[in-house]
Amino acid sequence: MKTCLITGGAGFIGCEVSTLIEDAFDNIIVIDNLHPQIHKLRQRPAQLSPKVNLFVADVTDPVTWDEVLSKWKPDLILHLAAETGTGQSLTESSRHANVNVVGTTQMLDALVRNNAIPSKIVLSSSRAVYGEGKWISNEKNSFYPGQRTNKQLAHGEWDFKDSAFLPMNKNHTIPMPTSIYGATKLAQEHLVTCWCNAYGVNFTILRLQNVYGPGQSLINSYTGIVSLFVRLAKQKQSIPLYEDGMMLRDFVFITDVAHAIYEVMINENANGKVFDIGSGYGATIKEVAELVANRYEAPFPEVCGKYRNGDVRHAQADISDTLENLNWSPKVSLGEGMNLLCDWIDNQLGE
Ligand SMILES: NC(=O)c1ccc[n+]([C@@H]2O[C@H](COP(=O)([O-])OP(=O)(O)OC[C@H]3O[C@@H](n4cnc5c(N)ncnc54)[C@H](O)[C@@H]3O)[C@@H](O)[C@H]2O)c1
Repeated sequence: MKTCLITGGAGFIGCEVSTLIEDAFDNIIVIDNLHPQIHKLRQRPAQLSPKVNLFVADVTDPVTWDEVLSKWKPDLILHLAAETGTGQSLTESSRHANVNVVGTTQMLDALVRNNAIPSKIVLSSSRAVYGEGKWISNEKNSFYPGQRTNKQLAHGEWDFKDSAFLPMNKNHTIPMPTSIYGATKLAQEHLVTCWCNAYGVNFTILRLQNVYGPGQSLINSYTGIVSLFVRLAKQKQSIPLYEDGMMLRDFVFITDVAHAIYEVMINENANGKVFDIGSGYGATIKEVAELVANRYEAPFPEVCGKYRNGDVRHAQADISDTLENLNWSPKVSLGEGMNLLCDWIDNQLGE
Protein backbone atom coordinates (compact mmCIF):
# COMPACT_ATOMS: atom_id res chain seq x y z
CA MET A 1 0.00 0.00 0.00
CA LYS A 2 1.58 3.25 -1.12
CA THR A 3 0.46 6.46 0.51
CA CYS A 4 1.20 9.98 -0.68
CA LEU A 5 0.54 12.94 1.59
CA ILE A 6 0.20 16.38 -0.01
CA THR A 7 0.18 19.49 2.14
CA GLY A 8 -1.64 22.41 0.51
CA GLY A 9 -2.98 19.81 -1.93
CA ALA A 10 -6.32 21.58 -2.48
CA GLY A 11 -4.54 24.53 -4.14
CA PHE A 12 -3.75 25.23 -7.77
CA ILE A 13 -0.77 22.90 -8.14
CA GLY A 14 -2.05 20.30 -5.65
CA CYS A 15 -5.31 19.71 -7.52
CA GLU A 16 -3.49 19.14 -10.82
CA VAL A 17 -0.96 16.79 -9.20
CA SER A 18 -3.62 14.84 -7.29
CA THR A 19 -5.31 13.89 -10.54
CA LEU A 20 -2.06 13.04 -12.29
CA ILE A 21 -0.88 10.67 -9.53
CA GLU A 22 -4.25 9.00 -8.86
CA ASP A 23 -3.14 5.63 -10.20
CA ALA A 24 0.38 5.76 -8.79
CA PHE A 25 -0.69 5.57 -5.12
CA ASP A 26 -3.18 3.50 -3.15
CA ASN A 27 -3.97 6.44 -0.87
CA ILE A 28 -3.65 10.18 -1.38
CA ILE A 29 -4.04 12.29 1.77
CA VAL A 30 -4.27 16.07 1.63
CA ILE A 31 -3.88 18.49 4.54
CA ASP A 32 -5.18 21.91 3.50
CA ASN A 33 -6.85 24.65 5.54
CA LEU A 34 -8.80 25.92 2.48
CA HIS A 35 -7.29 29.35 3.04
CA PRO A 36 -9.98 32.03 2.46
CA GLN A 37 -7.61 34.09 0.29
CA ILE A 38 -7.63 31.22 -2.24
CA HIS A 39 -10.83 29.29 -1.55
CA LYS A 40 -13.78 31.69 -1.65
CA LEU A 41 -16.36 29.10 -0.67
CA ARG A 42 -14.05 27.14 1.62
CA GLN A 43 -15.30 23.95 0.00
CA ARG A 44 -13.51 20.94 -1.40
CA PRO A 45 -12.40 22.09 -4.88
CA ALA A 46 -14.09 20.30 -7.78
CA GLN A 47 -10.67 19.83 -9.44
CA LEU A 48 -9.32 17.82 -6.50
CA SER A 49 -9.12 14.12 -7.37
CA PRO A 50 -12.10 12.23 -5.86
CA LYS A 51 -9.56 9.73 -4.60
CA VAL A 52 -8.12 12.28 -2.17
CA ASN A 53 -8.84 12.00 1.52
CA LEU A 54 -8.97 15.70 2.48
CA PHE A 55 -8.21 16.89 6.02
CA VAL A 56 -9.26 20.51 6.35
CA ALA A 57 -6.60 21.60 8.79
CA ASP A 58 -3.58 23.81 9.29
CA VAL A 59 0.00 22.57 8.81
CA THR A 60 1.13 24.72 11.73
CA ASP A 61 -1.12 22.77 14.11
CA PRO A 62 0.67 19.82 15.77
CA VAL A 63 -2.64 18.22 16.81
CA THR A 64 -3.64 17.95 13.14
CA TRP A 65 -0.39 16.25 12.31
CA ASP A 66 -0.78 13.75 15.16
CA GLU A 67 -4.32 12.96 14.07
CA VAL A 68 -3.34 12.40 10.43
CA LEU A 69 -0.14 10.47 11.16
CA SER A 70 -1.84 8.19 13.67
CA LYS A 71 -3.98 6.98 10.75
CA TRP A 72 -1.54 7.21 7.85
CA LYS A 73 2.20 6.61 7.44
CA PRO A 74 3.00 8.35 4.15
CA ASP A 75 5.65 6.86 1.87
CA LEU A 76 6.00 10.15 0.05
CA ILE A 77 5.22 13.73 1.07
CA LEU A 78 4.69 16.55 -1.40
CA HIS A 79 5.00 19.75 0.65
CA LEU A 80 3.07 22.52 -1.14
CA ALA A 81 1.30 24.34 1.71
CA ALA A 82 2.51 27.92 1.87
CA GLU A 83 1.63 31.55 2.11
CA THR A 84 2.60 32.75 -1.36
CA GLY A 85 2.09 36.52 -1.60
CA THR A 86 5.43 38.14 -2.45
CA GLY A 87 4.26 41.73 -1.89
CA GLN A 88 1.99 40.75 0.97
CA SER A 89 4.88 39.02 2.75
CA LEU A 90 6.50 42.43 3.40
CA THR A 91 3.61 43.58 5.53
CA GLU A 92 2.64 40.17 6.92
CA SER A 93 6.02 38.61 7.46
CA SER A 94 5.08 36.71 10.63
CA ARG A 95 2.18 35.07 8.86
CA HIS A 96 4.47 33.97 6.02
CA ALA A 97 7.18 32.77 8.39
CA ASN A 98 4.67 30.94 10.55
CA VAL A 99 3.15 28.88 7.74
CA ASN A 100 6.20 28.44 5.52
CA VAL A 101 8.89 27.96 8.15
CA VAL A 102 7.11 26.82 11.33
CA GLY A 103 4.57 24.83 9.28
CA THR A 104 7.49 22.90 7.81
CA THR A 105 9.18 22.29 11.17
CA GLN A 106 5.85 21.20 12.69
CA MET A 107 5.56 18.65 9.89
CA LEU A 108 9.10 17.36 10.44
CA ASP A 109 8.68 17.11 14.23
CA ALA A 110 5.37 15.31 13.80
CA LEU A 111 6.93 12.75 11.46
CA VAL A 112 9.49 11.90 14.14
CA ARG A 113 7.00 12.00 17.02
CA ASN A 114 4.63 9.63 15.20
CA ASN A 115 7.31 7.29 13.92
CA ALA A 116 6.22 8.11 10.39
CA ILE A 117 9.48 8.79 8.57
CA PRO A 118 8.64 8.78 4.82
CA SER A 119 10.89 7.49 2.02
CA LYS A 120 10.89 10.82 0.26
CA ILE A 121 9.88 14.48 0.53
CA VAL A 122 9.34 16.68 -2.53
CA LEU A 123 9.36 20.40 -1.76
CA SER A 124 7.92 23.06 -4.05
CA SER A 125 10.33 25.93 -3.65
CA SER A 126 10.36 29.06 -5.75
CA ARG A 127 12.47 31.14 -8.11
CA ALA A 128 11.95 33.81 -5.39
CA VAL A 129 14.94 32.27 -3.57
CA TYR A 130 17.23 33.81 -6.22
CA GLY A 131 16.00 37.37 -5.72
CA GLU A 132 17.43 39.54 -8.51
CA GLY A 133 19.81 36.71 -9.41
CA LYS A 134 23.09 37.17 -11.24
CA TRP A 135 23.81 39.84 -13.89
CA ILE A 136 26.67 40.44 -16.28
CA SER A 137 28.28 43.82 -16.95
CA ASN A 138 29.09 45.16 -20.41
CA GLU A 139 32.73 44.25 -19.60
CA LYS A 140 31.55 40.61 -19.15
CA ASN A 141 31.99 40.51 -15.38
CA SER A 142 29.20 38.68 -13.58
CA PHE A 143 27.90 40.12 -10.32
CA TYR A 144 25.01 39.98 -7.87
CA PRO A 145 23.27 43.37 -7.93
CA GLY A 146 21.40 42.69 -4.69
CA GLN A 147 18.09 44.34 -4.03
CA ARG A 148 16.73 47.40 -5.78
CA THR A 149 16.20 50.08 -3.15
CA ASN A 150 13.01 52.01 -2.73
CA LYS A 151 14.93 55.12 -3.78
CA GLN A 152 16.04 53.49 -7.06
CA LEU A 153 12.49 52.40 -7.81
CA ALA A 154 11.04 55.80 -6.90
CA HIS A 155 13.44 57.32 -9.45
CA GLY A 156 12.35 54.86 -12.11
CA GLU A 157 15.74 53.13 -12.18
CA TRP A 158 14.29 49.76 -13.06
CA ASP A 159 17.41 48.07 -14.45
CA PHE A 160 20.92 47.70 -13.11
CA LYS A 161 23.07 50.02 -15.20
CA ASP A 162 25.23 48.80 -18.11
CA SER A 163 24.49 45.14 -17.47
CA ALA A 164 22.24 42.28 -18.48
CA PHE A 165 20.34 39.63 -16.53
CA LEU A 166 21.53 35.99 -16.60
CA PRO A 167 18.83 33.28 -16.43
CA MET A 168 18.67 31.59 -13.02
CA ASN A 169 20.11 28.15 -12.47
CA LYS A 170 20.92 26.25 -9.28
CA ASN A 171 24.44 25.51 -10.53
CA HIS A 172 25.52 29.08 -11.13
CA THR A 173 23.11 31.40 -9.32
CA ILE A 174 23.49 31.77 -5.57
CA PRO A 175 20.13 32.18 -3.81
CA MET A 176 19.75 35.74 -2.46
CA PRO A 177 16.08 36.40 -1.78
CA THR A 178 14.77 39.96 -1.97
CA SER A 179 11.37 39.26 -0.44
CA ILE A 180 10.23 37.79 2.86
CA TYR A 181 8.39 35.16 0.85
CA GLY A 182 11.63 34.21 -0.94
CA ALA A 183 13.50 34.11 2.37
CA THR A 184 10.91 31.73 3.86
CA LYS A 185 11.08 29.47 0.78
CA LEU A 186 14.87 29.31 1.10
CA ALA A 187 14.46 28.50 4.79
CA GLN A 188 12.12 25.65 3.80
CA GLU A 189 14.80 24.31 1.46
CA HIS A 190 17.40 24.33 4.24
CA LEU A 191 15.04 22.73 6.77
CA VAL A 192 14.04 19.90 4.43
CA THR A 193 17.65 19.31 3.33
CA CYS A 194 19.09 19.14 6.88
CA TRP A 195 16.30 16.99 8.24
CA CYS A 196 16.24 14.55 5.32
CA ASN A 197 20.01 14.12 5.39
CA ALA A 198 19.90 13.44 9.14
CA TYR A 199 17.10 10.85 8.83
CA GLY A 200 18.29 9.24 5.60
CA VAL A 201 15.17 10.40 3.76
CA ASN A 202 15.32 11.10 0.03
CA PHE A 203 14.26 14.55 -1.06
CA THR A 204 13.95 16.71 -4.16
CA ILE A 205 13.52 20.47 -4.26
CA LEU A 206 11.87 22.16 -7.24
CA ARG A 207 12.38 25.88 -7.77
CA LEU A 208 9.27 26.80 -9.71
CA GLN A 209 9.01 29.88 -11.91
CA ASN A 210 5.59 31.58 -12.48
CA VAL A 211 3.05 28.78 -12.75
CA TYR A 212 -0.13 29.61 -14.67
CA GLY A 213 -3.10 27.83 -16.19
CA PRO A 214 -6.64 26.64 -15.62
CA GLY A 215 -7.40 26.13 -11.94
CA GLN A 216 -5.42 29.07 -10.62
CA SER A 217 -7.21 31.12 -8.00
CA LEU A 218 -9.27 33.93 -9.51
CA ILE A 219 -9.85 35.63 -6.17
CA ASN A 220 -6.30 35.82 -4.83
CA SER A 221 -5.23 39.35 -5.71
CA TYR A 222 -1.73 38.74 -4.35
CA THR A 223 -0.67 36.14 -6.93
CA GLY A 224 -1.56 35.14 -10.48
CA ILE A 225 -0.83 38.22 -12.57
CA VAL A 226 -2.17 36.63 -15.76
CA SER A 227 -5.64 36.08 -14.34
CA LEU A 228 -5.68 39.70 -13.19
CA PHE A 229 -4.81 40.83 -16.74
CA VAL A 230 -7.60 38.66 -18.16
CA ARG A 231 -10.19 40.11 -15.79
CA LEU A 232 -9.24 43.68 -16.75
CA ALA A 233 -9.18 42.92 -20.48
CA LYS A 234 -12.58 41.22 -20.30
CA GLN A 235 -13.97 44.49 -18.91
CA LYS A 236 -12.33 46.32 -21.88
CA GLN A 237 -9.96 48.09 -19.50
CA SER A 238 -6.37 48.88 -20.44
CA ILE A 239 -3.96 46.64 -18.53
CA PRO A 240 -1.63 48.83 -16.42
CA LEU A 241 2.03 47.87 -16.89
CA TYR A 242 4.18 48.27 -13.78
CA GLU A 243 7.71 49.72 -14.10
CA ASP A 244 8.21 50.02 -17.88
CA GLY A 245 6.49 46.73 -18.68
CA MET A 246 9.79 45.18 -19.79
CA MET A 247 10.31 42.91 -16.76
CA LEU A 248 10.89 39.30 -17.79
CA ARG A 249 8.94 36.44 -16.30
CA ASP A 250 9.13 32.74 -17.08
CA PHE A 251 5.55 31.45 -17.30
CA VAL A 252 5.37 27.69 -16.97
CA PHE A 253 2.11 25.89 -17.63
CA ILE A 254 0.39 23.98 -14.83
CA THR A 255 0.39 20.58 -16.56
CA ASP A 256 4.14 20.91 -17.22
CA VAL A 257 4.69 21.62 -13.52
CA ALA A 258 2.54 18.68 -12.44
CA HIS A 259 4.53 16.38 -14.74
CA ALA A 260 7.81 17.71 -13.33
CA ILE A 261 6.58 16.93 -9.80
CA TYR A 262 5.51 13.43 -10.79
CA GLU A 263 8.83 12.84 -12.54
CA VAL A 264 10.86 13.69 -9.41
CA MET A 265 8.53 11.57 -7.29
CA ILE A 266 9.41 8.47 -9.30
CA ASN A 267 12.93 9.18 -10.59
CA GLU A 268 15.61 8.07 -8.14
CA ASN A 269 18.17 10.21 -9.96
CA ALA A 270 16.30 13.24 -8.64
CA ASN A 271 17.06 12.32 -5.03
CA GLY A 272 19.04 14.87 -3.04
CA LYS A 273 18.86 17.41 -5.86
CA VAL A 274 17.45 20.81 -6.67
CA PHE A 275 15.87 21.52 -10.08
CA ASP A 276 14.79 24.70 -11.82
CA ILE A 277 11.34 24.32 -13.33
CA GLY A 278 10.27 26.87 -15.90
CA SER A 279 9.53 27.12 -19.58
CA GLY A 280 13.04 28.47 -20.13
CA TYR A 281 11.51 31.39 -22.04
CA GLY A 282 11.52 34.89 -20.62
CA ALA A 283 8.45 36.84 -21.68
CA THR A 284 8.12 40.54 -20.96
CA ILE A 285 5.07 41.49 -18.94
CA LYS A 286 4.17 43.79 -21.84
CA GLU A 287 4.16 40.82 -24.24
CA VAL A 288 1.82 38.85 -21.97
CA ALA A 289 -0.47 41.86 -21.44
CA GLU A 290 -0.67 42.43 -25.21
CA LEU A 291 -1.54 38.77 -25.84
CA VAL A 292 -4.42 39.10 -23.39
CA ALA A 293 -5.55 42.53 -24.63
CA ASN A 294 -5.61 41.27 -28.23
CA ARG A 295 -7.70 38.27 -27.36
CA TYR A 296 -10.39 40.40 -25.70
CA GLU A 297 -10.04 43.37 -28.06
CA ALA A 298 -9.26 45.55 -25.04
CA PRO A 299 -7.34 48.85 -25.29
CA PHE A 300 -3.57 48.60 -25.62
CA PRO A 301 -1.78 48.02 -22.26
CA GLU A 302 -0.19 51.17 -20.87
CA VAL A 303 2.78 51.85 -18.65
CA CYS A 304 1.46 53.27 -15.40
CA GLY A 305 4.83 53.88 -13.75
CA LYS A 306 3.85 52.04 -10.59
CA TYR A 307 6.08 49.43 -8.99
CA ARG A 308 5.93 46.98 -6.13
CA ASN A 309 8.52 46.61 -3.40
CA GLY A 310 9.94 43.08 -3.31
CA ASP A 311 9.38 42.48 -7.05
CA VAL A 312 12.47 41.49 -8.98
CA ARG A 313 13.34 43.01 -12.33
CA HIS A 314 13.71 39.77 -14.23
CA ALA A 315 13.05 36.09 -13.60
CA GLN A 316 13.74 33.37 -16.11
CA ALA A 317 15.04 29.86 -15.57
CA ASP A 318 17.98 28.28 -17.31
CA ILE A 319 16.52 24.77 -17.46
CA SER A 320 19.46 23.11 -19.25
CA ASP A 321 20.45 21.07 -16.18
CA THR A 322 16.84 19.99 -15.59
CA LEU A 323 16.45 18.86 -19.20
CA GLU A 324 19.69 16.94 -19.01
CA ASN A 325 18.94 15.14 -15.75
CA LEU A 326 15.20 14.55 -15.71
CA ASN A 327 12.91 12.77 -18.09
CA TRP A 328 10.94 15.99 -18.46
CA SER A 329 10.60 19.00 -20.70
CA PRO A 330 7.99 21.78 -20.85
CA LYS A 331 5.43 21.03 -23.56
CA VAL A 332 3.03 23.98 -23.55
CA SER A 333 4.06 27.23 -25.25
CA LEU A 334 3.07 30.61 -23.83
CA GLY A 335 0.57 31.23 -26.65
CA GLU A 336 -1.11 27.83 -26.22
CA GLY A 337 -1.12 28.08 -22.45
CA MET A 338 -2.60 31.57 -22.46
CA ASN A 339 -5.41 30.42 -24.74
CA LEU A 340 -6.17 27.48 -22.45
CA LEU A 341 -6.16 29.76 -19.40
CA CYS A 342 -8.36 32.37 -21.09
CA ASP A 343 -10.83 29.69 -22.28
CA TRP A 344 -11.05 28.41 -18.72
CA ILE A 345 -11.52 31.88 -17.21
CA ASP A 346 -14.22 32.67 -19.80
CA ASN A 347 -15.93 29.51 -18.71
CA GLN A 348 -15.66 30.39 -15.01
CA LEU A 349 -16.69 34.05 -15.31
CA GLY A 350 -18.79 33.96 -18.47
CA GLU A 351 -17.80 35.35 -21.87
N1 LIG B 1 1.97 29.09 -8.39
C1 LIG B 1 3.19 29.56 -8.58
O1 LIG B 1 3.43 30.37 -9.51
C2 LIG B 1 4.33 29.10 -7.72
C3 LIG B 1 5.63 29.52 -8.05
C4 LIG B 1 6.67 29.13 -7.25
C5 LIG B 1 6.45 28.31 -6.14
N2 LIG B 1 5.18 27.93 -5.84
C6 LIG B 1 5.00 27.10 -4.63
O2 LIG B 1 4.12 26.03 -4.92
C7 LIG B 1 3.31 25.73 -3.78
C8 LIG B 1 1.87 25.66 -4.15
O3 LIG B 1 1.49 26.84 -4.81
P1 LIG B 1 0.06 27.03 -5.48
O4 LIG B 1 0.26 27.91 -6.66
O5 LIG B 1 -0.63 25.72 -5.64
O6 LIG B 1 -0.64 27.90 -4.37
P2 LIG B 1 -2.14 27.91 -3.86
O7 LIG B 1 -2.26 29.12 -3.01
O8 LIG B 1 -3.09 27.70 -4.97
O9 LIG B 1 -2.18 26.60 -2.96
C9 LIG B 1 -1.65 26.55 -1.68
C10 LIG B 1 -2.59 25.73 -0.84
O10 LIG B 1 -2.07 25.70 0.48
C11 LIG B 1 -3.14 25.87 1.38
N3 LIG B 1 -2.60 26.45 2.60
C12 LIG B 1 -2.13 27.70 2.81
N4 LIG B 1 -1.75 27.84 4.09
C13 LIG B 1 -1.97 26.66 4.70
C14 LIG B 1 -1.82 26.19 6.02
N5 LIG B 1 -1.36 26.98 6.99
N6 LIG B 1 -2.15 24.90 6.30
C15 LIG B 1 -2.65 24.09 5.33
N7 LIG B 1 -2.85 24.49 4.07
C16 LIG B 1 -2.51 25.75 3.76
C17 LIG B 1 -4.12 26.78 0.68
O11 LIG B 1 -5.46 26.64 1.18
C18 LIG B 1 -4.00 26.32 -0.75
O12 LIG B 1 -4.99 25.35 -1.08
C19 LIG B 1 3.68 26.77 -2.73
O13 LIG B 1 4.60 26.17 -1.84
C20 LIG B 1 4.35 27.87 -3.50
O14 LIG B 1 5.31 28.54 -2.71
C21 LIG B 1 4.12 28.31 -6.60
